Amino acid sequence: MADTATALVLAAGQGTRMKSRLAKVLHPIAGKPMLAYVTSAARAAGAEDIVVVVGYQGERVMEAMGEGLRFVWQREQKGTGHAVLQAEGLVGKGEGPLLVLYGDTPLITSDCLAELLTKHRQTAATVTILTTELPRPRGYGRVIRDGAGRVTGIVEEADATPEQLAVKEVNTGIYCFEREALFDALREVRRDNAQGEYYLTDVIGLIMERGGKVEALQWEDSESVLGVNDRIDLARAAALLRGRILEKLMLSGVTVVDPTSTYVDAEVRIGRDSVIYPMTVLEGRTVIGEGTVIGPGARIKDTVIGSGVRIVDSTVEESRIGDGATVGPYSHLRRGTVVGEGAKIGNYAEIKGSVIGARSKVSHHSYIGDARLGEGVNIGAGVVTVNYDGFDKYQTDVEDGAFIGCNVNLVAPVKVEREAYVAAGSTITKDVPEGSLAVARERQSNISGWVRRFKRRKSRNDNRDS
Ligand code: UD1
Ligand code: CA
Repeated sequence: MADTATALVLAAGQGTRMKSRLAKVLHPIAGKPMLAYVTSAARAAGAEDIVVVVGYQGERVMEAMGEGLRFVWQREQKGTGHAVLQAEGLVGKGEGPLLVLYGDTPLITSDCLAELLTKHRQTAATVTILTTELPRPRGYGRVIRDGAGRVTGIVEEADATPEQLAVKEVNTGIYCFEREALFDALREVRRDNAQGEYYLTDVIGLIMERGGKVEALQWEDSESVLGVNDRIDLARAAALLRGRILEKLMLSGVTVVDPTSTYVDAEVRIGRDSVIYPMTVLEGRTVIGEGTVIGPGARIKDTVIGSGVRIVDSTVEESRIGDGATVGPYSHLRRGTVVGEGAKIGNYAEIKGSVIGARSKVSHHSYIGDARLGEGVNIGAGVVTVNYDGFDKYQTDVEDGAFIGCNVNLVAPVKVEREAYVAAGSTITKDVPEGSLAVARERQSNISGWVRRFKRRKSRNDNRDS
């Protein structure tokens, strides 16, 4: 299409008000950098070509954003107008309007951008500004209109008169421009203002003076154009985005028992009739099947979980959990754990880099590291795989149907073959053959009458001392 929009996203600023070592636009919200929400909204509104202006921590920004975008450097951050000017070579010419957005407005929706584009085209404007009314417009540029209600310019808060400060209509920092008029005006912008910066907002007045057509679209839902400048804004934006994510899940058939204490990252997928109980955090690329019950009290990161699974009060990272398995309470499944169908990981288990076969049970107080458990294996209470000698890690194999008694140490590398038994309290250092019982502990001996003799001796000593 000849006049598809191009988007230019400004992301070169440090974000001084964040008081952070991390560039503002990289601060994550629901598992994604703030900037990624802006570029996604632009993409969904039909912008095929998206150019991002980078500067502060530019390398990191480019790395975090990845494919499908073009980047241009603004080496010194001399203001939003200066930032746009750096992109002239990439977006100065070409068909279609230029959407300009700031990387710190993560709640912007594609619907809103699409409406802005529509209004811009229908009114044949030179520039269309997205504005909104705020009861407390602190920090935003004010939209100045003449007696007839036409927009004549934008005044930054630092430069505004008391009357201008009283204006409730603010600049959202989202605009749609005719390219030539934008760059012609930009070259005229000076930095003689309170902040000594080249303001993009100054082009509005300049376009007006040159006989351009300035339009504005006033957006009702002011939350969706919230600019994030400090960490209070960040928390507000995160809460709003979280609400959106949870509402989408609920409408798709997931029960979220208490949305106020449930945190789900943007990329997480959850199947129908799954139930998420309070105090649950689902992070990264976690995928959950149908009819699975998570929480209360679960933290799950980058994990694929089947259907009909039950996880309570546990932490699970970079693992896979098969259909019908149960985990918790109080278990920690670490990177590389694979739990088979119908398996049971019980109270206080730590499992790392291990495969737990279907229907196997690790029910109580165990550490299983670098192990392969077959199907139908029973691990008794307090079993520990001794997998580390201070230098290297070693593997433990427990084959199908084996039974490991309570308080057993399996000193790796070691193998317990099919259907074998290991007696409680054993320290196993040699492989256990199929079908046999391994006992590796001192035999018990009972010394009769010992307690009576011991106590008599003790009380004689006491009498002598006193
Ligand atoms: C800006 C607007 C203000 C508007 C508000 C909306 C200007 C002069 N002011 O103010 O009218 O109400 O946004 O949220 O435009 N950036 C660069 N290079 C720079 C400076 C900034 O790339 O040299 C980027 C920043 O990374 C940020 C965005 O531009 O993503 C906006 O900059 P910021 O300093 O937050 O502007 P505001 O003071 O919020
Ligand atoms: Ca801002």
